[in-house]
Amino acid sequence: MKNILIGVSGGIAAYKAANIVSGLRKRGYDVKVVMTENAAKIITPLAFESLSKHDVAVDMWERNFNVNVEHIALADWADIILVAPATYNIVGKVAGGIADDMLSTVISAFNKTVYFALAMNVRMYENPILAENIKKLKKYGYKFIEADEGLLACNVNAKGRLKNEQEIIKIISKELEETEKISTDKPLAGKKVLITAGRTEEPLDPIRYFSNRSTGKMGYSLGEEAEKLGADVTIVSGPTNIDKPDRVNIVEVRTAEEMYGEVMKYEAEQDIIIAAAAVADYRPEYTADKKIKKGDMLTVNFIRNKDILLELGKIKKDKILVGFAAESENLIENAKEKLQKKNLDMIVVNSVDNFGTDDNTITLLGKDFETDFEKMEKKKVSKEIWKTIEEKFL
Ligand code: CTP
Repeated sequence: MKNILIGVSGGIAAYKAANIVSGLRKRGYDVKVVMTENAAKIITPLAFESLSKHDVAVDMWERNFNVNVEHIALADWADIILVAPATYNIVGKVAGGIADDMLSTVISAFNKTVYFALAMNVRMYENPILAENIKKLKKYGYKFIEADEGLLACNVNAKGRLKNEQEIIKIISKELEETEKISTDKPLAGKKVLITAGRTEEPLDPIRYFSNRSTGKMGYSLGEEAEKLGADVTIVSGPTNIDKPDRVNIVEVRTAEEMYGEVMKYEAEQDIIIAAAAVADYRPEYTADKKIKKGDMLTVNFIRNKDILLELGKIKKDKILVGFAAESENLIENAKEKLQKKNLDMIVVNSVDNFGTDDNTITLLGKDFETDFEKMEKKKVSKEIWKTIEEKFL
């Protein structure tokens, strides 16, 4: 069930909001009402309380509310806000960044869709300041339901009447159905996903480096799939020959240190991070400025690179963190250890035999699940990984 918050501001049409509340309730929505103090002079909160079956919020400083910060609680609760009627004043306040009563404060703390169903005197309706405020608010994603023409409270036949209540109900229901559809088609809509992909190269001199056979196919395929599912995707990628996918932010790096630096720049804002890169655990202690000339023997000292995933695990918070475990033996045992040590939600276990190929045979391992999959194309593997993330963690 979707939650609708109706904001009633102080226009004569305030009484019509009662029809909107009951119409939306009939359609199965849960409805709460916030009124401005002026609206409460036109129609009593009690009317909305009996229609909505919820307390009506008017005063910011009301002591009776059983939640601490009511305006935030309401903003969290609602899936959409409809301000009906929306007066010249409330539009002006929101456009001006003013939050001085319950309704304007809830709107300012709300990050989903807000509709203003306009209703006011025709001269106010035609005031260019209103047009400017609407233009500004539209830029930030606020939506407007235009007023109708008709007999206004001031006894003139002009534009300014609140749109027919049934029409308003239809617009709001349609909007909610569409968001519902987007959230089932696009389960990652609104989510930020970061993926590390490919190999790293650890230079010995200007032309030589240490690396591995990872192609980046798995990481890129996970990124492309996440994009299709609606996510905002960043791939921090080591060198690869893969064509850059559209609509995915690719950050190119070469060494493990560079990868660590870039991942940490983006880390805080992510909802989900998957470490699919084959990061070199070591790098040569020194990188020569010039090509090393040959001698009888060459000894290279290696020093440890940071484990990017381990570091991410330490600062995980409520992110979903997924790693890969490429193993030659004792696959599950070693992967379980990595899951715990790196503080991961899930680990994709695969054999090193899959490196550089188009296929992968994986086991998905979480704290309380272990699922084996047949050998599949990497594209199919990435679909299964996202399906499991959705089922287990979203
Ligand atoms: N990883 C990482 N940074 C590193 C090394 C690994 O982020 N410096 C990540 C990989 O992207 C992968 C996971 O850690 O998701 C596991 O990598 P793997 O090479 O299988 O294991 P290691 O933790 O390096 O352990 P070992 O090499 O001892 O098996």
